[in-house]
Amino acid sequence: MGSYCNSQHTLLFSLFLLLLPPPFANAVLSTSEEQGLPRPSAIAQSPSTSPTTYFQVTRPIPIPRTKPCSILLLQHDFASTYDKPPVTAAYSPPSHCRRRARRAPLAKVVLVWKAACRGRQFDRIFGVWLGGVELLRSCTAEPRATGTVWTVEKDVTRYASLFSRNRTLAVYLGNIVDRTYTGIYHVNITLRFYYGGRRSTPPSPHPGYGGSPADLILPISRDLPPNDGQWFVIENSTVGYLHTIPDQDWQSKELAIPRNAYRAILEVFVSFHSDDESWYSNPNDGYISANNLTDTPGNGPFREVIVGIDSDPVGAVWPFTVIYTGGVNPLLWRPITGIGSFDLPSYDIEITPFLGKLLDGKPHKFGFAVRFALSFWLVDANLHLWLDGKSSQTHGSLVDYQAPDLYFGTGSWFQGLDGTFAERYTRQISSTGWVMSSQGNVTTHAYQVFDYKNFMEIKGNGSIQVVQQLIDATSGVSAKGPGSTYSEQVIRHFPLYLYTRTADRIDESYTSTANVSFGFYEKRSTSDGSGSSVSSLANSQKGEGEMVVKGNLVVRGVGSTKQVYRYESTSEGCYLRNVSSSNYTILFDEWGKICGEGSGFALGESFRKWVSDLVGRIPLVSHLHSSKNRE
Ligand SMILES: *[C@@H]1O[C@H](CO)[C@@H](O)[C@H](O)[C@H]1NC(C)=O
Ligand SMILES: *[C@@H]1O[C@H](CO)[C@@H](O)[C@H](O)[C@H]1NC(C)=O
Ligand SMILES: *[C@@H]1O[C@H](CO)[C@@H](O)[C@H](O)[C@H]1NC(C)=O
Ligand SMILES: *[C@@H]1O[C@H](CO)[C@@H](O)[C@H](O)[C@H]1NC(C)=O
Ligand SMILES: *[C@@H]1O[C@H](CO)[C@@H](O)[C@H](O)[C@H]1NC(C)=O
Ligand SMILES: *[C@@H]1O[C@H](CO)[C@@H](O)[C@H](O)[C@H]1NC(C)=O
Ligand SMILES: *[C@@H]1O[C@H](CO)[C@@H](O)[C@H](O)[C@H]1NC(C)=O
Ligand SMILES: *[C@@H]1O[C@H](CO)[C@@H](O)[C@H](O)[C@H]1NC(C)=O
Ligand SMILES: *[C@@H]1O[C@H](CO)[C@@H](O)[C@H](O)[C@H]1NC(C)=O
Repeated sequence: MGSYCNSQHTLLFSLFLLLLPPPFANAVLSTSEEQGLPRPSAIAQSPSTSPTTYFQVTRPIPIPRTKPCSILLLQHDFASTYDKPPVTAAYSPPSHCRRRARRAPLAKVVLVWKAACRGRQFDRIFGVWLGGVELLRSCTAEPRATGTVWTVEKDVTRYASLFSRNRTLAVYLGNIVDRTYTGIYHVNITLRFYYGGRRSTPPSPHPGYGGSPADLILPISRDLPPNDGQWFVIENSTVGYLHTIPDQDWQSKELAIPRNAYRAILEVFVSFHSDDESWYSNPNDGYISANNLTDTPGNGPFREVIVGIDSDPVGAVWPFTVIYTGGVNPLLWRPITGIGSFDLPSYDIEITPFLGKLLDGKPHKFGFAVRFALSFWLVDANLHLWLDGKSSQTHGSLVDYQAPDLYFGTGSWFQGLDGTFAERYTRQISSTGWVMSSQGNVTTHAYQVFDYKNFMEIKGNGSIQVVQQLIDATSGVSAKGPGSTYSEQVIRHFPLYLYTRTADRIDESYTSTANVSFGFYEKRSTSDGSGSSVSSLANSQKGEGEMVVKGNLVVRGVGSTKQVYRYESTSEGCYLRNVSSSNYTILFDEWGKICGEGSGFALGESFRKWVSDLVGRIPLVSHLHSSKNRE
């Protein structure tokens, strides 16, 4: 199993892409990952230029106006770490910080990942776990010969309960260093603890709701030490259109939860690699076999991550199309990295309605499967639990549970290598259950509604591919207790447009032109009877690039990227950033606490109409057959 983010597949052939700095252009290259001895001395660099800082656009983390207490968790050089156990370090609670803070309450915790690399290296996927609970899923920056540095800051306050006990920190970043891939990742991981200041969340009349961190977080991940990360590895799945997930498709962990839980959320982390790195552009198997294509990953462009308890699907993730730092054209992501690539989004699934089944003190099976998966997906989850401090046993029952079949419609028309393909999928999952605790009898209703559309064109005798995709995912929860109701809803839109053209295929060399445009749009609203709050995020990127690829190396090229990040919130104010880059240089960069005019969802709406017009006329059917493969 490989663990780099990028194993680039274009439509007709697969490649490993990396930027070759000119001094190495004529070197003899090993294309095999596993070959070659670590040769750190091979890093021959001209120190003339200082390292380039890469970054992911995001809003600043709101922090109290107090001095943080920082502790270094790990300092490590990741060289030949591929297929080895994760690097570990002991964590103990920072008692000196608490003393210094005069026992003021912990207000905020920020994880800081700082890394530096120089030379040539793939974009590597990595994970950071504390006590098996995943804190960060990320992709490394691809270095330059002159060096690359980057920082990722993540608000990890929701994991506060983890930090009060001794734990093992584990970091897996599967890297290989040889004559060709010379980059060693030098990494420092720090935690910043902020005490006192303004409380980050006011006391809630609805304990467990409104953002207060869980009392206990249990890992749904692999125990140490696997020769890899603590994530589960999901390879080729067999589930296809089947409603019932075959046993062999589940990757799972058995776990008993405390008998006094009253709320539970599964926070799911997913990343996709190798044949499924760009699943949204995979053609269907009918096209692949009709054209006798052997190196093109297929299974069509739709994927669904299914989360199960005791083999019942309790929720799903229709993931955001993260493009890693080596994806599409690696030059697009220097220095502005792709949305989510330095801090992959996680997905919360409310499972409180199922607590009635789980409070028996016995182990239950928490599992993951990926519909239509090709090798490979990395999936795990954190189980956030809120516990009743005033009793040792809560009770509950599932009242209603609906997880009907996927609805879908597909159509494809092709002749030879050219064709058009349209797919649409929808699904709903909902559950209702009550839990009796010292707070009384609370009935929770949770729902997820998904809509997926993909329209793909292949033309120019297979040399041009255009993908237009839109994922709409709405999830919500309402909790009705004695005399009060709390509700929250999250609406997400993930539009994607991807154009790639491959030309001049002479010898081992060709030119690739790409346009990509995609976005992460999210609207959150909460309401608790006495008031409501709303936030919206519109984060979109547009890139265009050209590169000349020889053999398996990018020998020259240019990439330009524009990004607009707009966040508006009734409780946290506004933030706008408008930045663009070309050929490694920032062209302009404006940011501030600006509340924009008009709706941050404008692009999402026009894109929705565009894709809907293309795909919307396909009739939907529930599953018609139980075949494992699609055509
Ligand atoms: C890690 O910390 C050490 C010691 O403070 C420092 O010398 C080094 O430059 C840091 N590395 C990175 C990548 O920030
Ligand atoms: C936690 O770790 C520290 C440092 O290794 C050690 O001194 C302490 O005894 C440990 N505490 C517990 C409860 O194991
Ligand atoms: C998955 O499919 C690929 C391609 O057909 C194959 O090379 C690989 O061995 C398969 N993996 C598993 C675990 O079946
Ligand atoms: C695919 O292979 C089959 C059998 O070898 C052959 O009959 C057919 O013409 C090939 N089709 C294409 C498009 O090359
Ligand atoms: C909790 O409320 C539900 C719905 O009103 C009801 O069916 C259930 O019996 C109640 N449970 C207890 C223990 O009162
Ligand atoms: C289309 O591409 C195929 C495979 O690359 C090639 O055999 C064929 O001659 C091409 N057709 C045209 C019209 O260029
Ligand atoms: C690619 O992007 C450029 C610049 O935005 C635009 O002029 C061009 O029409 C785009 N091409 C395609 C095929 O989307
Ligand atoms: C971003 O900046 C560019 C260049 O100044 C400008 O044309 C564009 O309108 C700005 N976009 C937003 C959303 O502010
Ligand atoms: C990109 O920048 C490099 C040097 O910084 C320059 O040599 C090259 O010509 C530029 N490429 C383009 C297409 O502007």
